[in-house]
Amino acid sequence: MYTPAITGTGVFTPPERITNAELVKAFNAYVDLQNAEHAAEIEAGTREALQYSSEEFIVKASGIESRYVMDKSGILDPKVMHPLLRQRSDEEPGIMAEMAVEAAKLALAQAGKTAADVDLVICAASNMERAYPAVAIEIQSLLGIKGFAFDMNVACSSATFGIQAAADMVRAGSIRAALVVNPEICSGHLEWRDRDCHFIFGDVATATLIERKEDATGAHFEVLSTRCATEFSNNIRNNNGYLRRSRPDGVADRRDMQFMQNGRKVFKEVLPMVSQHIADHMAAEGVAPSDLKRLWLHQANKTMNDFIGKKVLGREPEAGEQPNILQDYANTSSAGSIIAFSKYSGDLATGDTGLICSFGAGYSVGSVILRRQG
Ligand code: COA
Repeated sequence: MYTPAITGTGVFTPPERITNAELVKAFNAYVDLQNAEHAAEIEAGTREALQYSSEEFIVKASGIESRYVMDKSGILDPKVMHPLLRQRSDEEPGIMAEMAVEAAKLALAQAGKTAADVDLVICAASNMERAYPAVAIEIQSLLGIKGFAFDMNVACSSATFGIQAAADMVRAGSIRAALVVNPEICSGHLEWRDRDCHFIFGDVATATLIERKEDATGAHFEVLSTRCATEFSNNIRNNNGYLRRSRPDGVADRRDMQFMQNGRKVFKEVLPMVSQHIADHMAAEGVAPSDLKRLWLHQANKTMNDFIGKKVLGREPEAGEQPNILQDYANTSSAGSIIAFSKYSGDLATGDTGLICSFGAGYSVGSVILRRQG
């Protein structure tokens, strides 16, 4: 048996950024266009007028101030309202692979390792740009990694579930090292015309290198333990799948082909599930709340994270104990907790304990308890 350790992480941040002000301006222009086009029906009472969005609401309800995206021109065009991502030929690298490779290179560089040291690539994300061949195998090929690769999808929990799969294989000895990559193009599955959720998501890619502790060449985080749980719920759902072509009529306008959620229910049901999951995991590992130096939580909503932090620690988290990145990145699905970990873990001291936790559609929740070494 080997001890798995996280030895490197990387974040690829897309070059384009949308502030709440830009987003709301475009959305409200779309509302004006729609209401003008359907003025007669609205007047006759057969159609409801669309309502404006507001910057104040977005910050108050979510804590989000801006988001990065792969294409802002389409999203901000009130006549388009979705990213315009060029269809690439099969001979070119896919867009997810391209983002993931950038994040993976950063993770390898931080660990002081090369492709030759890696035996597995897991591409863990909430949406894949195609059914097959696996995006992970394309990333493996672009990086020149031998061994094997596969895709997995557990929505917002994909990264922690991927880390558990990789850590277990390192522990068992079937691989030396794995790259878990999370290219999340959330802008592609967000309905930018829906006022209730148009502000929620952003794009990013993260990568985590997990290897045998004895192969670490510098400071690293020993994986003490991982724990995953799922419970079926329809409250966060996206029906887009390979069967969509069986209903070609009107498919483009089907609202269920994009991200949908019952946000209030998610808020209410996921909070107790996550708080209990973390408490049980820590108790099983003999980690007391006072032992925990840092919490790197999934980044969906600031109020939710504040609540979970308080519940887990048994007090108000102090500044820096539970870092948020969602004000800059928005919700980046599975990548959120890894961005927080990547940006806010370097200052921990040898022996410090921290916990990564993701949660989301499924419902799903995954936690990873780490101890800083070296
Ligand atoms: N601008 C202005 N007002 C808006 C608005 C917008 N963009 N969107 C909604 N509103 C209005 C609603 O119409 C409603 O008005 P009413 O009270 O007159 O009916 C009011 O604001 C409250 O709407 P609601 O949807 O209940 O807001 P909320 O406080 O629940 O916040 C979320 C919405 C989505 C931010 C919040 O529920 C949440 O974060 N839930 C968890 C989400 C999550 O973690 N999802 C996981 C995704 S992976």
